[in-house]
Amino acid sequence: RDNGGQIVGVLGIARDITEKKRLEQQVLNAEKLASIGKLAAGVAHEINNPLGGILNCLYNLRKKSVSLERTTEYLASMEEGLRRVQKIVRQLLDFSQQYEPELAPTEVNAVVERVLTLTNYAFEGTRVRLRRELGNELPPLMADQHMLEQVLMNLILNAVQAIRGEGVVTVRSGHDGPWCTIEVEDTGCGISPDVLPKIFDPFFTTKGQGEGTGLGLSVSLGIVERHGGEIAVKSQVGRGTTFTVRLPAMAVRSMVGKEG
Ligand SMILES: Nc1ncnc2c1ncn2[C@@H]1O[C@H](COP(=O)(O)OP(=O)(O)O)[C@@H](O)[C@H]1O
Ligand SMILES: [Mg+2]
Repeated sequence: RDNGGQIVGVLGIARDITEKKRLEQQVLNAEKLASIGKLAAGVAHEINNPLGGILNCLYNLRKKSVSLERTTEYLASMEEGLRRVQKIVRQLLDFSQQYEPELAPTEVNAVVERVLTLTNYAFEGTRVRLRRELGNELPPLMADQHMLEQVLMNLILNAVQAIRGEGVVTVRSGHDGPWCTIEVEDTGCGISPDVLPKIFDPFFTTKGQGEGTGLGLSVSLGIVERHGGEIAVKSQVGRGTTFTVRLPAMAVRSMVGKEG
C-alpha cells in the first residue's frame, strides 16, 4: 500500500497467477491432444483389421463358385468381425463419456457386492479364489453407481486375467480420512516398470488379439477422475498388483442437511 493506503502491485501478482494458470492449462491441453492422437491412431488400427477381414469375405462371397459350407464360414467370420467393431465402438462411447454421470448417494459395499455377483463367472473353471474384506460403517459416496460398477468390474477382470494357475483376488473397501477406498489386489504376474506408465493409455494392452481391447483402464480412470477421485497402482513382477481407487466420501454436513 502507498501512503494513502491505496493498494499497489496487485496487478503484478494477478498477472503471475494468470500466467501460471495459462501454462497449466496449456500442459493439460497438450496432454489431452496427445491422448486424443493416440486414441485416433488406436481406433483406426483396431477397426481397420476387422473391416479388412469383412471386405475380404464379401469379395469371396461374390464369386460364383462358393460352396454352401464356405459361405457359412464367411458369414460367421463376418459376424465375428462386426461384433468386434461393435464392441470397440461401445467402449469408445464409454471412453468419451457422452452421457453425464448421474450422481446419487451410493453405498460402496453395495456396489462391490453387485459387481462380485456379476463377475462370478470369471472365477469359474479357474483356480483363482476370491477374498472379500469389506469395511463397515463406510460413509456413502456421491457417485454414478453404474459407472463405479464398470470401474470395479474392469479391475476385477484384469486381476483374474493376471493370474495363471492358482491365486487370490482380494477386494477391499474402507475409508481413509475424506476418501472411500476400493482396492483390488491380485497374486498375479505383476506389471513391469517399463509397462506401468502405459497401462492407462487407451488401447494399450499386453493381451492377445480378441482378448484385450486396452480400453478398460483408460475408461476406468476417466470415470474415477470425473468423480473427483484417483487410481493408484502398486505392482511387483511375479508377485502381484494392487489397484486402489480413492473417491471423495460424502461430507457429513451434507448428509445431515439431506436428512433435515
Ligand atoms: N491386475 C493386473 N495385473 C497385471 N497387469 C495388468 C493388470 N491390470 C492391467 N494390467 C495391464 O494393463 C494393460 C491394460 O489393461 P486394460 O486397460 O484393462 O486393457 P486390457 O485388459 O483389455 O488389456 C493390460 O493389458 C495389462 O498388461
Ligand atoms: Mg482390462
